[in-house]
Amino acid sequence: MQAVILVGGEGTRLRPLTVNTPKSMVPILNQPYLEHNLDYLKKHGIKDVILALGYLPHRIKTYFDSVGEQDSHLTYVVESTPLGTAGAVKNVEPHLHGEAFYVFNGDIVTDIDLRDMYTFHKREKASVTIALTAVENPTAFGVVETDNNGRVRRFVEKPGWDEVTTNMINAGVYIVEPEVLKLIPSQTFYMFEQGLFPLLLKQGEKVCGYPSTGYWIDMGTPEKYLKLHHDLLHKMARDGRDGGVVGGIGEGCSIHPSVQITGPVLIGKNCKIGPRVRIIGPVVLGDGCQVDEGSVIEGAVLWEGVHVGAEVNLKDSILAANCRVAGHCWIVGGCVLGDGVEIGEGNRLGQAIRVWQGKKLEPGTLSF
Ligand code: GTP
Repeated sequence: MQAVILVGGEGTRLRPLTVNTPKSMVPILNQPYLEHNLDYLKKHGIKDVILALGYLPHRIKTYFDSVGEQDSHLTYVVESTPLGTAGAVKNVEPHLHGEAFYVFNGDIVTDIDLRDMYTFHKREKASVTIALTAVENPTAFGVVETDNNGRVRRFVEKPGWDEVTTNMINAGVYIVEPEVLKLIPSQTFYMFEQGLFPLLLKQGEKVCGYPSTGYWIDMGTPEKYLKLHHDLLHKMARDGRDGGVVGGIGEGCSIHPSVQITGPVLIGKNCKIGPRVRIIGPVVLGDGCQVDEGSVIEGAVLWEGVHVGAEVNLKDSILAANCRVAGHCWIVGGCVLGDGVEIGEGNRLGQAIRVWQGKKLEPGTLSF
């Protein structure tokens, strides 16, 4: 079977991480998101993948050209203007083989059982099957109401608590029968959620919801991006790698004997960690990071080439590639630093502040 992955969005909610890097190439455990997704598809026997691209398409293509496609056959289709989620799928129609196919939002991480979803789809003879996942607070999402047989009755966008009849939301994974494509206008901005799905219901087509209990997260915001890392690292710890550092330490690292590492931590290649540093997982350090004497890193994700000076306190924050943090800084509470940000000595950043890529903060400018 084929899969279409929608990776054309600008990822505005993840900015500044997505200014130079499309959301699908943002690293998850030091590996681009899309690689994880292709591995997941491969596990379910899906190797023929069409990427619907729009924003920074060359970043994706160049990466896969350099590492090889690793067993998957990738087709790249670039939109000249954004066509929306359904419009993007219509745009790849010439590459589809005329059978049911999967569609994935390119920012979800899940272990939904795709084979079981396909069996359900065929058994129910649906035109479209939408994977559903339960959330605690449905008022923040579009919920999907189904009958006892799984047939979709209604979509309700961000219901008030008095309207909530279900906590099942659209998980951003669909199986689509090819006939449905004729309902999507060509070269026109058109969405599944607001356009195609309501139209199918109106026309009496069978749209089904496949309730999944698997892991699911949309990593489209910095909070979710951090949570995803924490979940994955804790899962690694639970899966029982007790010896050494859970997650692992890459080759070529130089780690001072006085460094304390606790909790699940993933350290990339060629990192240098100085005396008395404490790393309290879940933490990820990308390749080539350096952490100087006496600093504490807790619950943070650092991309490649980040330099953290001495006696820094870095907690629950994300630092993109090649950031430099001078000594005695505090960066805590969900801060996000874009590529190449330089934070001068003694700054204190908190309250989820976002610093745009390439910005330089003079010493002692900020103090929360
Ligand atoms: P935000 O700007 O933060 O909302 O992110 P986004 O637009 O990148 O993602 P959103 O969650 O809104 O969209 C869900 C998925 O559809 C993401 O994987 C997007 O990359 C993708 N997507 C959204 N719009 C388009 C589009 O016009 N074309 C293509 N090819 N993909 C799209």
